[in-house]
Formats: sequence, C-alpha cells, structure tokens
Amino acid sequence: MKKKLILDVDTGIDDAIGILLAIKSRQFDILGITTVSGNVSLESATLNTCKILDLLEEKDIPVIKGADSPILRKPFFEHRIHGEDGLGGALKDVPITHKYSEGFAPDFIINSILSFPGEVTLVLTGPLTNLALAVKKCPQITKHVKEVIFMGGVVKGVGNVTPTSEFNTFVDPEAAKIVLHAGFESIIQVGLDVTRKALLTEEHIKLLKNEKLARYINGSTADYQQKYMERYGMRACAMHDPLAVGIAINRNIVSSEKHYVDVETKSELCDGQLVCDFQNRLNKPANLQVCLHVDSEAFFELFIAILNS
Ligand code: BDR
Ligand code: CA
Repeated sequence: MKKKLILDVDTGIDDAIGILLAIKSRQFDILGITTVSGNVSLESATLNTCKILDLLEEKDIPVIKGADSPILRKPFFEHRIHGEDGLGGALKDVPITHKYSEGFAPDFIINSILSFPGEVTLVLTGPLTNLALAVKKCPQITKHVKEVIFMGGVVKGVGNVTPTSEFNTFVDPEAAKIVLHAGFESIIQVGLDVTRKALLTEEHIKLLKNEKLARYINGSTADYQQKYMERYGMRACAMHDPLAVGIAINRNIVSSEKHYVDVETKSELCDGQLVCDFQNRLNKPANLQVCLHVDSEAFFELFIAILNS
C-alpha cells in the first residue's frame, strides 16, 4: 500500500524538485500539498507549486494555502538564491492551469491526520509555521500522525542564513520550538549536516533522460549553481528538500541519532539555531531523530532512477 503523504512547502527551487521526486516516485498517495510563506511569499509559493503540478500534468493533487507569515515575525524571503519568482526563472511566463483549493493548510493537516489515524507521513520543507499552528489547534494530532520528516536546522555545522542558523528554522523559530516540544513520537530532522552533502551537479543532470524534466532542472538551478560556485568554488546545487523526500522513500540513505534538541528564539545573534544536547547535559528526554550522515551516492542513484522512470 502507498504511504499517505502531505508535503508542506515554500516552493523554492529545491522544494519544487522535492515535489517532482515525490510524485514521480509513485510511492505515495499524496493527500495534498500545503504551502507556507518562506523562500517566497505564500502567494508565490502556491503559484509555483501549481506550476510544478502542471509540468507533470498532475491534475488531482490539491494545493492548499497556509500561513502567510511566521507565527510572531515578519516574512523573510530568500530571492537571492531562488530568484525573483522562486524557481530561478525557469517557468516564469508559463500560464498556470492548476487551481489551488479552498481551505487553510493547518486545518487540512489536522483533518487528514484525524481521518487516517496512524497513516499520514508529513514531509515539511519550509518554515514549520503550518504544522505549529495545527499542533496549537489540535495537540492530539501528535499521537495520530505516522511520522514527521522536516528539512531544517543544523546541529553540528554552520548556518546558511546567519553564522549559526539554517533558513527554515531561522525564519520561524517559534514554530520550530512548538513542533520540537509537541511530543511527536516519530520526528526526523534533515538538516544542513546532511543536505549540504547532497549536491546536484551538471553530471547528475546529464544522466536525466526525461528531456522536459532535465531542461526544467537545468534552467531552474542555473543561477543557484553559479552562486554556489562563487561561494564554494564548485558548480552545484544542494538538494536540501529532495533529500527529505528521499528519506521518506528510503530511510536507509541516512543514519541518525535521537537526542534532546531545542531552538534558540531569544538571542541577538543566534535566533533559529538548533541546540542538540549530544551529551545529555540537560538531562531531558530525547525529542528528535537527527540525521548525521548521508549516503549521497545512494541518494542520487535513487533520485536519477525515479526521475528517469
Ligand atoms: C532550506 O531553505 C530554503 O531556502 C530551501 O528551500 C530549503 O528548504 C535550506 O536551508
Ligand atoms: Ca524549502
């Protein structure tokens, strides 16, 4: 039986590729894709999600809008990486036919989990605002969800938006705090510690046989790869969000440990930083499975096989 899945996205370049991967894998019964303010505005994230569904001629997956700003803070967009439109300009003037559905993402998440207790996997690749709002409104969802996999934070390395913080936890640290302390039994953090090792290169793109997808991925990631080149001296594009989807498909591509983790919300310099108590100094029960190693080769084998299928 296919896993029931909700993807929660702030569609951006890598969220879009994560959506492609989830759909093309045919491993999931995708109940819906919920959108959130993050890389781009809620409006743009929603339109970008609809464009990606059009690209795959996927008519039946509902797209539901969620929060248009973080819980307490102002939106913080990442146009430097994702471009003005959020998809690196690749589908800029393409007309959109997929219509988003009525409703509010946190309610959609609650209703889906309560309708299919123990069956729904959530993969979140944007700030955690929608899930935090869902938990606040209906705390019992934590007992009925199958698993939560989120891309966000960094536990050993450095940040990508401030020296200490990763973008998704930086944008809405209060939401991350609610989610981390909500009491989810199975919750996996896919942070920069592993996603920075899942680097898509032109060599990978050359292996893609589906011309339409290859053209899209090449166009969408071109500027991102150039920015990466300027900073790190290598043309590549980190597959942060597709890795979270990859883990929902095959957990064995990463290894992880369970620890107590909290997030900084009251600091001048470190807001959004995850603090992982590796040595259990705080003596608190572990609340998060943190991914520490990834088999990048296995991930890209899976990635290319799925996109070529
Ligand atoms: C995360 O931030 C966003 O810019 C990406 O889409 C990804 O979800 C990486 O830090
Ligand atoms: Ca994202």
